[in-house]
Amino acid sequence: MKKPLVAALLSAATLALAVPVAYAQFDRPERAIKYRQSVMTLTANHFGRLQPVVKGTVPYDKDAVKANVAIIAMLAPLSWAAFTDGTEKGSNSKPDVWSDAAGFKAAQQKYQETVAALSAAADSGDLEKVKVASAAVADSCKSCHDKFQVKR
Ligand code: HEC
Repeated sequence: MKKPLVAALLSAATLALAVPVAYAQFDRPERAIKYRQSVMTLTANHFGRLQPVVKGTVPYDKDAVKANVAIIAMLAPLSWAAFTDGTEKGSNSKPDVWSDAAGFKAAQQKYQETVAALSAAADSGDLEKVKVASAAVADSCKSCHDKFQVKR
């Protein structure tokens, strides 16, 4: 490869890395809190729309399930960067989010794996697979909340 091309690719890669970091900045603690709660609210809404399908009270529509799951998957990595230092107070996050950062990270990873499995199940068009994967996602929401969210 010619040097200028390598340099251009490297700077593009640097930019790609830099952008999410720059976007992770919040100018006030309340905005970080609002951001993470908003991501959770949207996730809960779209996950909630799947529940009648997995319960069998509405007919299975593969495309509608895929559309909701795509939104859940897009949201899945977003909230974590908003659990910034300085936002320990004024929300429903337990102090454990900060004192047990490794545990919180592990719960995020577990959740993201279950969401990836739900995406694969939604793509398969097999309702039985969607049911199993959806239950696994619900478990990972709950196990994180049990440890890290103040019960309301
Ligand atoms: C890795 C941990 C973790 C996972 C996984 C997780 N949550 Fe949360 N969730 C939290 C924490 C922490 C809060 C409290 C946020 C705050 O108030 O600072 C929260 C808050 C919420 C809220 C309240 C939002 C508000 O407006 O205050 C809802 C609703 C919610 N989560 C739904 C879900 C659903 C549904 C899932 C799974 C599909 C999920 N969460 C997965 C940690 C998690």
